Amino acid sequence: MVEHQNGIAQATSGQSKPDCHVCSVKGSEAYIELPIVRTTEELRTTVGKFMAIMAGTRELLGVVTEVSLKTPHTVSGPELKAIARVDLVGEISRDETGRQRFRRGVGAYPAIHDRARIINSEQLRLIFRGNKSTFAEIGRLHNDTSVPAYVDVENLVTKHFAVLGSTGVGKSSGLAVILRQVIRTWRELRVLILDHHNEYGSVFGDQANLVGAKNLRLPFWLFNFEEFSDVLYAGKPPVPAEQDILSELIPLAKTQYLNRRQSAERPSALRKVEPRQSGFTADTPAPYLMQDLLALIDERMGKLENRSSRMTHHRLIGRIETLKNDPRYAFMFANATVGGDTMATILTELFRLEANGRPVTVIQLASLPIEVVDAVVCVISRLAFDFGMWSDGAMPLLLVCEEAHRFAAADPSVGFLPSKSALSRIAKEGRKYGVYLGLVTQRPAELDATIISQCNTLFAMRMANERDQALLKSAVSDATANLVDFVPSLGTGEVIGFGEGMPLPVQFVFNRLSEELLPRSEAAAALPRDLNPGSRREFVNAVVERWRGSIMSHDQSAPPQEPAAVDTGSDGHVRTSAGAAEDKISRALQMARREYLGR
Ligand SMILES: Nc1ncnc2c1ncn2[C@@H]1O[C@H](COP(=O)(O)OP(=O)(O)OP(=O)(O)O)[C@@H](O)[C@H]1O
Ligand SMILES: [Mg+2]
Repeated sequence: MVEHQNGIAQATSGQSKPDCHVCSVKGSEAYIELPIVRTTEELRTTVGKFMAIMAGTRELLGVVTEVSLKTPHTVSGPELKAIARVDLVGEISRDETGRQRFRRGVGAYPAIHDRARIINSEQLRLIFRGNKSTFAEIGRLHNDTSVPAYVDVENLVTKHFAVLGSTGVGKSSGLAVILRQVIRTWRELRVLILDHHNEYGSVFGDQANLVGAKNLRLPFWLFNFEEFSDVLYAGKPPVPAEQDILSELIPLAKTQYLNRRQSAERPSALRKVEPRQSGFTADTPAPYLMQDLLALIDERMGKLENRSSRMTHHRLIGRIETLKNDPRYAFMFANATVGGDTMATILTELFRLEANGRPVTVIQLASLPIEVVDAVVCVISRLAFDFGMWSDGAMPLLLVCEEAHRFAAADPSVGFLPSKSALSRIAKEGRKYGVYLGLVTQRPAELDATIISQCNTLFAMRMANERDQALLKSAVSDATANLVDFVPSLGTGEVIGFGEGMPLPVQFVFNRLSEELLPRSEAAAALPRDLNPGSRREFVNAVVERWRGSIMSHDQSAPPQEPAAVDTGSDGHVRTSAGAAEDKISRALQMARREYLGR
């Protein structure tokens, strides 16, 4: 074999070099004839291995996606030969320092009898590593575990990514590996995880701020009209007559609040803002008081003669009151306007604008009433985009959404449309404003196609479903589409990385996370079998308390005069009895988890 002077082939000197050459070319596929050599593991040519082809002055890199014995392409004599189909994925070039680099895209195509060779581990490591400071290791190559698999964190995050795979294949664990490296590599980035199953509590240790029903503050006035309606009607179609009343009166309630605050701040100011001048709409994220809105509806009802209109107003008041008094909705209604306009504080807290060593927010959606999850995802995604836009992208933010097919379904009749538009807006325009998307789904075919097409890095894990595989095939570039054939046979934790965040499209195994860092649903932590009867009873009492708290009104569940119902949490905040019950349960579960891990 003729060695070219500066190429990778130098590194193979001293080894037996099988004579491999191109025998057919079709589009970005080349067929290479090679002798069947079994002397070393490195020379065992099989699918997933990389080969280099000297095409004139260029050195092309390809991945073997098929190997067969003597096909019609074979032109050799009696010697047994193999034919490898190689998908060309890019070129190996040299930078100014003479180091080998991988570059996507193929500038020339191979010709018959161009020489080829198998890339060994050392060469692969060199090509894979690159020299960018934004590279981070997330796993090891499947075919050669001595070679680390890297992602380019900057490309990965800023061009959006998705983790796809059937249930239980290691998506959440893989995402945890990725995100831990992302926050280590890009210190200015903030990460907000929409954690559908409360799994990510333990992944980031004290680098994450956990936000659940107890400490989430998302005042009702931050919800736009559609989002508020979705909560009010629990995801069912709204009543149009009631909607008309709300859209007319919410701006008035906002103006009243503004006037009251202005006169409290500047008592001398005589002029009040007229509702028409205020410019408020039902969508403006400006604070107002729910009692003002209720009083306005009541006042209007009092002036009505028509019985059916009165009933409409009456029903609307009842609907709002029920929601307001439901302790599960305390995150929207309790202290919604304490201290005036709290929007800046909420955004600072939610998006970790003052990170203080905790760049990650985990929103524990499973602790919220199931009917509001859609609206909460929508509000948070919308706020993330709007904050990015109004701040000109001053603070880069990665929004990570588990179970993305639920919030951005391909089928328009599924889910809450505004949450899909909010995510789709980030997918399409977020990059301009420093807002990026990381999605996880077990049903890629059910995820909105436009959103997935904006994800420039895809991590494909095992997928048995043909529709999902077809979707993946259409989403990756043609040159790497054959790699999709490996997807049904991947093991747990194994993945193929495609796209711009990967230096090379490659099959690898995610680094293993230790037991205590694995994403795990809090609910999955079982009580220890040998828990003493007293603790067991205390645990059941706490469950009953939590259960009742969820269906009693505020006043009944936490009578202020009853000191036993008030508990001071570790953060110094006073909690209601429902909050104390939540604490007891989570303490018991934590204890159980620690015991379990200690075994
Ligand atoms: N990188 C890893 N390190 C350690 N264990 C892992 C890893 N990946 C997967 N596992 C194991 O596989 C199990 C399932 O992984 P995981 O929960 O991440 O899958 P999933 O695809 O997110 O599942 P689901 O569809 O239920 O959300 C984990 O509980 C863990 O035991
Ligand atoms: Mg998961």
